[in-house]
Amino acid sequence: MSEYLVNRLRSRMKKREPIASITAYDYFSARLAAEADLDFVLVGDSLGNVIHGADSTIAVELSDVVYHTRIVVRHFPAERVVLDMPLGGYLASSTELVKAAVEAFKQSGAGAVKFEGAGRVQLEAAEQLSSLGVPVMGHIGLQPQRVFSQGGFKRQGLREEDAARLRSEARALEAAGACSIVLELVQPDLAGEISDELSIPTIGIGSGELCDGQILVIHDVLGLLPGDAPGFARQYAQLYGAALQAVRRYAADVRESADPPQVQGSQPGAAPGAADLHTAALLADLAAQEAPGDA
Ligand code: KIV
Repeated sequence: MSEYLVNRLRSRMKKREPIASITAYDYFSARLAAEADLDFVLVGDSLGNVIHGADSTIAVELSDVVYHTRIVVRHFPAERVVLDMPLGGYLASSTELVKAAVEAFKQSGAGAVKFEGAGRVQLEAAEQLSSLGVPVMGHIGLQPQRVFSQGGFKRQGLREEDAARLRSEARALEAAGACSIVLELVQPDLAGEISDELSIPTIGIGSGELCDGQILVIHDVLGLLPGDAPGFARQYAQLYGAALQAVRRYAADVRESADPPQVQGSQPGAAPGAADLHTAALLADLAAQEAPGDA
């Protein structure tokens, strides 16, 4: 049975059970999140960093996010997939933002949309989208789309006036109908206070333990990329090193042995693995292309 995002978040919050989430962009990450029974996944514009390998999320297009979301909804309950609206000209007006968000929501099959900021445009859009039945997740604190104007990846809410602004942004998003708010790199005590003040759940990233839930970028959790993850992100595996070793061993096998490496499971009598099925599909395609006279 479908479990909608708003119900799942509300029920977790009511029972004081922390909400656990990661970002997902493809079959691999969506499948992991589904098997680990995470509460929701975010198809974040962080795909600019971890899929495109860029330094920021700024160049990500809405069509990129829609493309990845359409994959993710096939492998994780679609009602609990959140589509992240990247930086775009539509953010100049609430009407344009609503139109773009509704279109992306419809095309992707996601269960909610998220956007950064709590200015007039975002608040009006949150209100209209909520009244149209599109759940909205807010995002305040560090806003990677504004990294140039915010002056880098810095902790937010350290000065009193910034803390007061974050508090009022959170309240305004809740009043506009947001179903939840991401607090990114917010000073942890402040994040706790905001979480206590609101009746909707806060999802922290680098904002301490007092939020109602946590989200991390899957590549940081798994150590899927070379280099260090952000300091706040706890790494639970170091898979890049293991993958590099495997690819180096494979290359050495190809280059140094007379026989090409055999795919495990392709020996007679063995059950086919994913690699065999992929190879079989390729061979079938080739055979179809080479078959003389076939229409
Ligand atoms: O784009 C993203 O992945 C995000 C999360 C890190 C909150 O916005």
